[in-house]
Amino acid sequence: MLSYKLYKFFLMNLVGRIIVIVLFMTVSAESFAENGYELWMRYRNIEEKNLASTYINSIKNIQIDRSFPSLKAAADELTLALEGLLGEVPVSDTTLVDGTLIIGTETSSPMIRNLKLSSKIAGTGDEGYIIQNILINGKSCIVIASNTEIGALYGTFHFIRLLQTRQDISELNILEVPKLKFRVLNHWDNLNGTVERGYAGYSLWDWQRLPMYVDRRMIDYARANASVGINGTVLNNVNANSKSLTREYLIKAAALADAFRPYGIKVYLTAKFSAPIEIGGLKTADPLDPAVRKWWKNKVNDIYRYIPDFGGFLVKANSEGQPGPQDYHRTHADGANMMAEALEPHGGIVMWRAFVYENSRNVDRALNGYNEFIKLNGKFNKNVFVQPKNGAIDFQPREPFHPLFGKMTDTPLMMEFQITQEYLGYSTNLVYLAPLFKETLDSDTYTKGKGTTVAKVLEDYQRSNGMSGIAAVPNIGSDINWTGHLFGQANWFAYGLLAWNPQRTAEEIADDWIKMTFNHDKDFINAIREMMILSRETAVKIRGALGLNHIMNFATHYGPGPWYKDNHWDARDYHKADTYGLGVDRTATGSNVVAQYAPELSKLFSDPKTCPQKYLLYFNHVAWGYIMPSGRTLWDELVHQYFKGTDEVTQMRRIWDTMEGKVDAQCFNHVKQLLKAQEDEAIWWRDGSVLYFQTFSKLPIPADLPKPEHELNYYKRIPFPYDWNGIYK
Ligand code: GCU
Repeated sequence: MLSYKLYKFFLMNLVGRIIVIVLFMTVSAESFAENGYELWMRYRNIEEKNLASTYINSIKNIQIDRSFPSLKAAADELTLALEGLLGEVPVSDTTLVDGTLIIGTETSSPMIRNLKLSSKIAGTGDEGYIIQNILINGKSCIVIASNTEIGALYGTFHFIRLLQTRQDISELNILEVPKLKFRVLNHWDNLNGTVERGYAGYSLWDWQRLPMYVDRRMIDYARANASVGINGTVLNNVNANSKSLTREYLIKAAALADAFRPYGIKVYLTAKFSAPIEIGGLKTADPLDPAVRKWWKNKVNDIYRYIPDFGGFLVKANSEGQPGPQDYHRTHADGANMMAEALEPHGGIVMWRAFVYENSRNVDRALNGYNEFIKLNGKFNKNVFVQPKNGAIDFQPREPFHPLFGKMTDTPLMMEFQITQEYLGYSTNLVYLAPLFKETLDSDTYTKGKGTTVAKVLEDYQRSNGMSGIAAVPNIGSDINWTGHLFGQANWFAYGLLAWNPQRTAEEIADDWIKMTFNHDKDFINAIREMMILSRETAVKIRGALGLNHIMNFATHYGPGPWYKDNHWDARDYHKADTYGLGVDRTATGSNVVAQYAPELSKLFSDPKTCPQKYLLYFNHVAWGYIMPSGRTLWDELVHQYFKGTDEVTQMRRIWDTMEGKVDAQCFNHVKQLLKAQEDEAIWWRDGSVLYFQTFSKLPIPADLPKPEHELNYYKRIPFPYDWNGIYK
């Protein structure tokens, strides 16, 4: 008979075991639930049996030379994708069968060499590719061919995307060449692991364990970027730390560069202008001082010893307290050219930011970037890009395009977008940014006649100056789903695809992303696409209706703050509300920003009757009683916009609520909770802003709309969820 002690032990053990088993089951069920880590490279089994078997028959044998690192990356990706999508991995040998997939270049593949595709492949440049069905010796094959291995990798990702989005692959005749050469992410990551304006956790770069340990996540980051054609990454914050240029950190950056190289991604660093003083022991950083120039030359030579394909420097100079050439009464061109000369022998470039402003309440900040740089047009070395933001203020929910686009005829401009939602509700808010990117890219500058869009201006530099480019501040961090909000992934995806080809539409990109991330249900796709496309206009209605902007909380850039005022900052400089009306006069009677645009636009923007409604209050100070195209007065229209915006968030929330069961439960709940928060915040913005502007208009809230629940002070006192400034300063 069992003694009581033994019995108790057995019982406890049994109970313990059961607990462990139950716990294990719960944990593994959790971990098998979708956490978003796979991004759009989510290769789930194709359930449509006929389609799956067509694909299986079309991809029976893969011929690719794995001894080239980028081709090995392509082969690994295909293996992963086909195993997931089709449940089997094709063989890989040299026999030619119906359904042979041949991938490579004329160098890596004798088969491609024999196909006599040279003239076609020649047109694909350094990164493009062709994907074609070709009959070879009577066998139906698919060929992905390019001049370079990285082109073949891009082609492979494109091919996988065709399968993920269930395309017909029997008559492929694709030729892709990127429209812009440099397609870069500007991480604002600090060496201490925090991310300036980052809302998805901490930095991906593990400076402590690098270079000994390179996390697998680095490869997944590179895969994601390569899958959408991003080919450069600036590792650190534009508010730079000189230390990143010391040997200690260069060795670490080199380990990242090694990991990214097979995926065609070059590493860039930010360069603090005062580095020669801070880490070089010099007394000055004057760009015309021979010792300083020598220091940069040596430093650059050193960097290339660690990173032989180093991309170059991104520089924020004489902006928001950063040091720069003007500290020595030199120009931005003097500073940029010094670095450019050091980089030129190695093929590196300088991306010199045009985000400069005087920080004086007497000067309209919208004027500064243009005025500072237009006089330097043509004065930069040939390997320098000047990099303006999409608009002249600062990554606002909506701004007209930066007036430098089209005017900087002799110095190439590189666009800078922001993917991280600094002014768009962090990673709490669902805002699909492709419509914002498209709006800028499609804007007509009229600088060389009608049709000179911003995208065309960017692309044309390739022909005139031999380089073209685009950059964006990403929304990526250590969060398991990379971007905090699951829908933030769509913005990373969209940026990459638009950087490759600015002509693509926001709708088609959304469709691809939805199919690759969620499912192929037509109703689901239509509803989610509609919600995504709507989301940007919705955000604008709440944060910057009718051309208003920069009226958020000063410290956090989150939540409303049109009332904010201290010694250096007065939000009224950005909205100019008074008893007469609202909006900033940037016409000839005001700061005359309009003069920085082509005459056609200047004329259009200067008259409230012709100024597009979306930019009305950006360019004009308009009377409260002004009759808008809707027939409402400006005041009534403004209030309507706020209410419409919040109603639309409610609509988004309702659409999502109907999706329960159509997406993974964990993803569903994640988005559901965030949409609820977004709705509450929209009401905070709406009621706070309406009550504040009412103190100037002195007009009643239109009779058909409900009144805010509380007094203005209530909204002013709502605490901000987190002071992100505290994290990095
Ligand atoms: C904004 C942002 C800063 C950033 C700056 C820049 O002002 O709030 O955090 O450093 O832009 O782009 O340089």
